[in-house]
Order: sequence, then C-alpha cells, then structure tokens
Amino acid sequence: MAAKEYKIAVIPGDGTGPEVIAEGLKVLEAVASKRKFKYEVTNYDFGGERYKRTGETLPDSALEELKKFDAIYLGAIGHPDVKPGILEVGILLKIRFGLDQYINLRPVKLYPNVWTPIKDKGPEDIDFVVVRENTEGLYKGMGEFKNKGTENEVATQVSYNTRKGVERCIRYAFECCRKRNKKKQLTLVGKTNVLTYAFDLWQRTFDEIAKEYKDIKTDYAHVDATCMWFVKNPEWFDVIVTDNMFGDIITDLGAMIQGGMGIAAGGNINPQGVSMFEPIGGSAPKYTGKNVINPLAAICALGMLLDEIGESKAAADVENAVIKTVAKMPSLSAGKMGMGTRDVGDSVAKNI
Ligand code: IPM
Ligand code: MN
Repeated sequence: MAAKEYKIAVIPGDGTGPEVIAEGLKVLEAVASKRKFKYEVTNYDFGGERYKRTGETLPDSALEELKKFDAIYLGAIGHPDVKPGILEVGILLKIRFGLDQYINLRPVKLYPNVWTPIKDKGPEDIDFVVVRENTEGLYKGMGEFKNKGTENEVATQVSYNTRKGVERCIRYAFECCRKRNKKKQLTLVGKTNVLTYAFDLWQRTFDEIAKEYKDIKTDYAHVDATCMWFVKNPEWFDVIVTDNMFGDIITDLGAMIQGGMGIAAGGNINPQGVSMFEPIGGSAPKYTGKNVINPLAAICALGMLLDEIGESKAAADVENAVIKTVAKMPSLSAGKMGMGTRDVGDSVAKNI
C-alpha cells in the first residue's frame, strides 16, 4: 500500500505566528519520517501585513481553496497596527464559520514537571477538555447600534443559538467524553440563572441528548462558579461543553492552570470537513523575532492535527516528545525557557 500523503495548508499569520509554526513544521518533518507518511505544505500569507499592503483579509476564493486540504495549521492572527476586529473577524472567524468548524476543542492538561499557579495540584488533578461551540452565540456578529454617537446610544450584541447548532456541539461533547474514557463525566457550563433563553435551550438539549448516553454522568455548573472551581478543584472536571463566549473565557483560565499560553493548543473542528489547529495564545507582538516565544503550544496544536487526520501514533509521539522537552525547561514563559524558540523545536524534534 502506498504511503498516505496529506495536504496541509499553513497560515503562519502575524507576530510570533511564523516563528512557532516553523518549529511545528520541524516536528512534523521528524514525525512523518518516523511514521512513514508523506505530506505537502501550502503556505498562505493571510494576516496583518498582507492586509496593510492590499486591504484584503481573506478572499472568498481562499475559503474555497482551503476546503480542499486535509487540515489547516494556523500560527496567530492579530496585528498591533490594525484595529481590533478586522483581522479576527475577517480571517479567523471567517474560516471558523466558512468551513463550519463548529467545535473548538481545547484540552487543559498539566504535564509532569510543569509549574502551575494552583497550589498542591498536579498532573493527576489538571486534565480535562473544553468543548466550545465555535460558530454561534455572541460570536455570530448579530446586533446593532441605535442613535450611535448620541447620549441615547444603545448597542446590542445578540447571542444566537440554534437547536441544531447546540445539539451537534453537545453530541460531539458526549462522544468525546466516551472516547476519552476517563471519568466519563460531561459538565454543561452556562448561566441558566440569567441567560434564560439561550441556556434554557442548552439545558433542554443537553438533558435530551444525555438519555442516549447512559454511560456518561452529567453535571451542570454556572460559568462563574466554573472559574472558581478551575482554581479550587480542577480535578472535578473531565469534559466540559459550553457556548462560544464562555468557552473563550474559561479556556484562557484553563491555559494558565496547565502552564500558560506557551503550551495551550486548540482545534477548530468540523468533524465532517476541514479542521484548523492553532496555539491559543495569539500573536504576542512584543516577542516577535526575538527567538524567545514558546513554540510548544503550536507543536501541541500539530499533535491535535495529526490526531484528527488519523495519525494517532504520530500524535502520541508528539505528545511524548513534548513531555520530555518540558521536563528540561525551567519555565514555559516567553524569555524564561532557559533556551530559545528554535532550541525548543529542536528538542521536541529530536525526542520524536
Ligand atoms: C481565541 C481568540 C479568538 C476568539 C479571537 C482572536 C477572535 O481569543 O481563539 O480564543 O475570541 O475566539
Ligand atoms: Mn480567546
């Protein structure tokens, strides 16, 4: 049988994006040669610089092109010279929505020997997954200004939740929980006491779908209490499912308890289509070009990509190589790693 050949679109993007993606690609080369699969990378220069040059964020034609790949590997989107929202909506959200990547999968896992700010908690306590809805909610962009610029101005931003959108996300979370096979506990995170329309739909849908998954224990927590428990009792969680906005917020907190933005990765997943993987930390402009940014988040995102395209052994190789590398690092923070960006990439590649 001929070796598989994957087509991967790479969008290094802004700031430190290109630096961390370069290290991820180094690791990809190492693991592909070990696991004997082939791949072809196609680079796209979408991001702040291109926007400044051409006024273009992501053309519709690019969206069509991206649909032809096996996966997309993204560095970071966000440029200090470009007004917030333009690139994020015009590129990142356009891909998430346009490719219907309705799941944002964000594992929160503390590896051995990694410092966490949570006292007396270790790798056995901090190991859960957040399934964030990725195409609806407050991110939908629905809303309006009334009387803009006057003293009677009103601005609304609507949380848009469809039964179908909520259901497919919840279903994915139940499946994810079953496949993970750990505590077999799925927690719905919401705000049913205040968001009495949106989370009523979430809760009803959750309870209905739960009947099909009798092997999974179900649970509910308000989003504010969830933040408290991430700090106090992170071991309570196994899989969490939540809406787009809450998922965005709690996964930054999740990133901190797993060792920081330097290691937190995520996948924008369309289980039936093309998925995109990225470090969740952003473009970190102040560290750009200094060889100080931590590429492990991007490398972990590569691991998730490999898992999604079906190279689960390669994904495990990447994770194990990351575990070996973090054990030698005094810190996962930019500039404090005891080595440079490229050394971290070399170390992971060598440990493959
Ligand atoms: C994330 C980011 C994005 C989001 C921004 C850059 C639009 O914070 O991936 O978590 O809010 O989803
Ligand atoms: Mn975020």
